Amino acid sequence: MKGVVLAGGLGSRLYPLTKITNKHLLPVFDKPMIYYPIQCLVNAGIRDILVVTGGNSAGDFLQLLGNGADFGLQRLNYAYQQGEGGIADALKLAEHFAEGEPICVVLGDNIIEGNIKKAVDDFKGQGGGAKIMLKEVHDPERFGVATLKDGKVQKIVEKPKLPETNLAVIGIYMFDEKVFEICRTLKPSARGELEITDVNNEYIRRGNMTAQVLNGWWTDAGTFESLYRAATLIRENGCNRMDV
Ligand code: DAU
Repeated sequence: MKGVVLAGGLGSRLYPLTKITNKHLLPVFDKPMIYYPIQCLVNAGIRDILVVTGGNSAGDFLQLLGNGADFGLQRLNYAYQQGEGGIADALKLAEHFAEGEPICVVLGDNIIEGNIKKAVDDFKGQGGGAKIMLKEVHDPERFGVATLKDGKVQKIVEKPKLPETNLAVIGIYMFDEKVFEICRTLKPSARGELEITDVNNEYIRRGNMTAQVLNGWWTDAGTFESLYRAATLIRENGCNRMDV
């Protein structure tokens, strides 16, 4: 299993903080934001990791992360996303790196309290397909929202105006090698992006998607409120503390 951290995009919701740097280089309490998703993968036992970034500050990632020594890694892999065509557009850049292996994808602005090692091990035992993680939230309209029936995901709607449930799809996804074939079939959404939700809905349609509700806190850090919340959660509770 290989790991992919997606850290491209404009970070326009955090403007002007992101006027001269990349969102994922901003501090979240005592570390740059990008440290948390990388540490999340390392804690799950994943050591072969690709960081996809973009924009004008892409070189700063190399200077900050180098070969991954801060995470006990011997090397890190990098890819550059031209423009900001969406999460699934950034994911396409991981195809060569994945070499047909399953991957665990973490969005660069997602931070969790726990350790996903058990979920990763469960996915390895599921024999292909995909796995997503869900979390109950009070503001589901900000996220991809899942509808379940008998514990199985029926559908995911991206940022619904009237959410059917309060189960957000968090930015940690596990995919088999078919994810790249699916990415190639996607069409840009109304916001002009290739959506990860369309990838997940295709796995649901094929009947090989599993889902698990996350224990412990989860937050994105892509808005002023959530960036502040992330720093506070880490300061008060620490992160990467338990199995999820
Ligand atoms: O945080 C979880 C949510 O993330 C999910 O519930 C949604 O289903 C999913 O679409 C996503 O929603 P956002 O609209 O919040 O995603 P955002 O555009 O903020 O991008 C999240 C991360 O993905 C960002 O920190 C870096 C990466 N990304 C994003 C874009 C648009 C890229 O690498 N390239 C891109 O072009």
